[in-house]
Amino acid sequence: MYNFDELIDRTKSSCEKWDKYKGQDVIPAWVADMDFKSPPCVIEALQKRVSEGAFGYTAIDDETYDAIINFVKKHYDWDIKKEWLVFTHGVVPSMNIACQAVGGESVMTNTPIYPHFIKAPHNAQKSVIAIPIIEKDERWCIDFETLENSITSTCKLFMLCNPFNPGGTVLTKEELERLASICIQHDLTLCSDEIHADLILTPHLKHIPIASLSEEIAQKTITLMAPSKTFNIAGLQSSFAIIPNKKLRESFKKTMGNAVGGINLLAITATKAAYVYGDDWLNELRVYLSENLILVQNFVAKNPSLKLLKQDATFLAWIDATALHVKSPYALFLEYGVGLSDGLPFGDAHFVRLNFGTTKATLEKILSRMQKAIDSLC
Ligand SMILES: Cc1ncc(COP(=O)(O)O)c(C=O)c1O
Repeated sequence: MYNFDELIDRTKSSCEKWDKYKGQDVIPAWVADMDFKSPPCVIEALQKRVSEGAFGYTAIDDETYDAIINFVKKHYDWDIKKEWLVFTHGVVPSMNIACQAVGGESVMTNTPIYPHFIKAPHNAQKSVIAIPIIEKDERWCIDFETLENSITSTCKLFMLCNPFNPGGTVLTKEELERLASICIQHDLTLCSDEIHADLILTPHLKHIPIASLSEEIAQKTITLMAPSKTFNIAGLQSSFAIIPNKKLRESFKKTMGNAVGGINLLAITATKAAYVYGDDWLNELRVYLSENLILVQNFVAKNPSLKLLKQDATFLAWIDATALHVKSPYALFLEYGVGLSDGLPFGDAHFVRLNFGTTKATLEKILSRMQKAIDSLC
């Protein structure tokens, strides 16, 4: 049994999440990391590695490759090969590399979306074709018709976020097959950000890497994965791209050139330990997060001015606050001491994103402050 109720003081570690509101009575619930300690297996492996005292140039060993290959096989039944893996120090850098490595003048993605899906194409001097997600059966879905009708001859890349951030949708096999078939038909390369894949909270649902569906789509896909969200090690900057197509992989690596390095020795150590020994911790984390999600859902249910669709993954609740009829719900909740993510940079200022990856005690405080903010409008 791991103790996710343990409150750790993150105010003394240059923590972005907590430092943002230093000296103010604001509980942070924004950036996507959690207030939990990483798994003991990760902490112990790092302590052991640090105690060795040798921190020179370090290669990624076969054990680390095997740890990733076995984790992906065990969790997603996908057989990947060592040579397909390209390490980068973050999924965001990989998104930027993908946008530069793939040709074309525009990039298509769904919105609202994690802001780097918009920034990365712009950084590569490409325009963005934004396809709004739609509400269907109480769930955020891809609008396939609009998507297919909006593809232009200069668009060569589709950037997918699965599970959705924000939105928490886990795409079904049918949805992924439909998207894959559109990409194949229109010759679009697919960059699939699956960083939240391990955090599925609805027990009967499974994450399916889109590239695992068929050889044909695998050959068109750059899959981005990482242990960072899953095991709460974002500060260690570890991530990898899985690129089965040799030409695409070479183009990705060439774009990286000498400008973007791989991962550092502590990231290697943590990644290996997490993927080999972290499963029990991860299972318990998912249970804890699901309980937190219920707290959030109950809170929304008793406030008719808020709305939350089916949230199957991630610790980030995408809350529609349109019915509060305030200019900025983010500003309202901040005034009452909760630092949520403003929906605006994701694409909709009527929404806020609540990070519930925290202790129940902290989440209860967050929700009670949010309640006061809502009650103040009556
Ligand atoms: C969908 C998505 N992709 C990428 C990232 C960031 O990844 P990294 O820290 O590895 O750059 C996040 C972080 O919130 C995210 O939600």
